[in-house]
Amino acid sequence: MQAKNIRSRIDNSNIIGLGAIAKKEKLKDPLVINSTTGMLYDDEGKLFTYSSVDKVINLLTPEEKYAYFPTGGTKLFKDEIKKWVFGTSYELIKEYSDVIPTPGGTGALANTFANFLNDNDYALLPNYMWTNYVQILDDSNKLYKTYDLFLNNSFNLNDLKNKAKEILKLKKRVLIVLNDPAQNPTGYTLKPNEIDDLVDALNDLKNDGEVILLLDAAYIDYADSYDKTRLNLSKYLRLDDEILLIIAFSASKSFGLYGLRVGAQIILSKNKDVLYDSYESCVYSARSKWSNTSSLGISLVSKILNDEKLKNDYLKELDESRLMLKRRSDLFKDLVKKYHLNILPYDAGFFSSIPLDNPKLVYENLKKKKLHLIPFDTSLRITLSSITCDEIKRMVEILKDEI
Ligand SMILES: Cc1ncc(COP(=O)(O)O)c(C=O)c1O
Repeated sequence: MQAKNIRSRIDNSNIIGLGAIAKKEKLKDPLVINSTTGMLYDDEGKLFTYSSVDKVINLLTPEEKYAYFPTGGTKLFKDEIKKWVFGTSYELIKEYSDVIPTPGGTGALANTFANFLNDNDYALLPNYMWTNYVQILDDSNKLYKTYDLFLNNSFNLNDLKNKAKEILKLKKRVLIVLNDPAQNPTGYTLKPNEIDDLVDALNDLKNDGEVILLLDAAYIDYADSYDKTRLNLSKYLRLDDEILLIIAFSASKSFGLYGLRVGAQIILSKNKDVLYDSYESCVYSARSKWSNTSSLGISLVSKILNDEKLKNDYLKELDESRLMLKRRSDLFKDLVKKYHLNILPYDAGFFSSIPLDNPKLVYENLKKKKLHLIPFDTSLRITLSSITCDEIKRMVEILKDEI
């Protein structure tokens, strides 16, 4: 009996594989620039860990760390995640939302695709995207189409609307994926007025069929201040009752807990029956795929967010890490301007991208100069979160000669 090995060809960007090559090369030669991996590193090139998070591990009881936790989440985790993600809008959403703990944001995305699309239904993805979406969809027999993310360096709402309409004509249901703020791989963040227009457009689209918005908010804590990102998020509460909103939250990114595998799938609907059915269906899938999410991860996040002192310590560190990343972004933006490098619209966050016709060839050439980036079909991704300011300077020197 053969496994479905043809599927392994789907991951054509091979982010993990190329990251492993870069890591190996850097171990041999410290001058290698490993700008591949979607984790935050400090200014000395070491993995950035939140000491305010790490120290809480020792405050947890054995039960909190190691016992099986309910698949559908504890009340504490659900409440704290809702408060964290929605901030001051918590009161507005607490009654009409539910939360399922998931193995990272990936679990939340996979559970959403599996439960809200039938086989051979379409998800609508941005043309510049985290390519794992394609693999996750393929794994559960779902199809996809793409919308152009940009027109004249702004969000291309028209293309999103047109593509969504095409899908609604075919299937009467569309699941739209938006990765905002600090999109992977471009770093683009929708402006407040772009979110307003998007919400209006979705409210209009629902007249053509069922509309589900999957907001992948993996980088919500690395774009702007807490208050600003939450203010932008609250704009989605203007979505009509018939539209289902799912938010994928990643504690990998927000708390630096990449390997612990914790995240959340937040489901919002004002229709009680829809909310109940959606939640139960997603819990059923979770139980049959990963059974329950790491209790250590759930307990850590719950405890930090539920304790004023621990939360304040964490908030301070989060501000510091955001500032560290911003220093790199500012430097990168200055150099891009100085050398007239052509990048896709970039605002903030872990990644930026260069549009190219031949990214794979350029990737090979850069590798020879000890610079490791990630080539996609029509662009090359730079990871600012994993390199130091000194490496950014060296990287741009190499890029300006090669591109
Ligand atoms: C856009 C985006 N969404 C979701 C994820 C999921 O991350 P995790 O499953 O570790 O939370 C990632 C990870 O790189 C990502 O870049």
